[in-house]
Amino acid sequence: MHSKKKLIAGNWKMNGNLTANKSLLTAVVDGLNQAQCDVAVAVPAPYLAQVERLVSGSAIAVAAQDVSVHESGAYTGEVSASMLKEFGVRYVLVGHSERRQYHGESDVVVSRKAQRALAAGITPIVCVGETLQEFEAGDTEAVVKRQLAAVIHLNGHCISEIVVAYEPVWAVGTGRTASPEQAQAVHAVLRTQVAAASEHPDRIRLLYGGSMNAANAAQLLAQPDVDGGLIGGASLKAADFLQIIHAAR
Ligand code: PGA
Repeated sequence: MHSKKKLIAGNWKMNGNLTANKSLLTAVVDGLNQAQCDVAVAVPAPYLAQVERLVSGSAIAVAAQDVSVHESGAYTGEVSASMLKEFGVRYVLVGHSERRQYHGESDVVVSRKAQRALAAGITPIVCVGETLQEFEAGDTEAVVKRQLAAVIHLNGHCISEIVVAYEPVWAVGTGRTASPEQAQAVHAVLRTQVAAASEHPDRIRLLYGGSMNAANAAQLLAQPDVDGGLIGGASLKAADFLQIIHAAR
């Protein structure tokens, strides 16, 4: 089966401040003990330097929430992959549903962002997922396959280096979670798709995200093709985030 370590990644979204970040991360670092999984926190760009300091020497990796499709130049407000790299960023979320929804990110843009990250030596966590409308129309499989196909198309040669996060949009921040069976079914589809494109399919981790919390994490993480979680709301509470981390083995 898949012998790789699971990955639990927190997505703080646009939350936090210097004081809150410090107390949250101090508590998480203190409670990590012998975590069996890899852990990352995706933080707002202005806090990368602070967070890099706070987690240094711990098992927590720093992640960013977005990256520019451009390398450098006249792109006001954008942050490049090489800038992220300078702050010790190991992972970057690309194509989060909130970026697709509120910033009009297309499959092509998301693929190019993944490409920029890979070129800078940062692992992209490529988010895919269907909207409620698509879910209700029975289009889940077609949508996630289309989203992932774009990333494979552009990054085929290094597709084994990506992480994929399946986040049904109807489950993100809603308190409504996909059942373990629903998550597993979509993950199996994604697994087949990436495996067909990869020389090292065993390396690729598929995360589930969308209202994962301390109560439902263990069951979701027990599914054979769920290799970790992308956690929004519950990653802002040290006790909850730690419980999810310790459920990942
Ligand atoms: P949620 O967010 O856990 O709050 O649903 C997940 C995400 O957006 O990555």
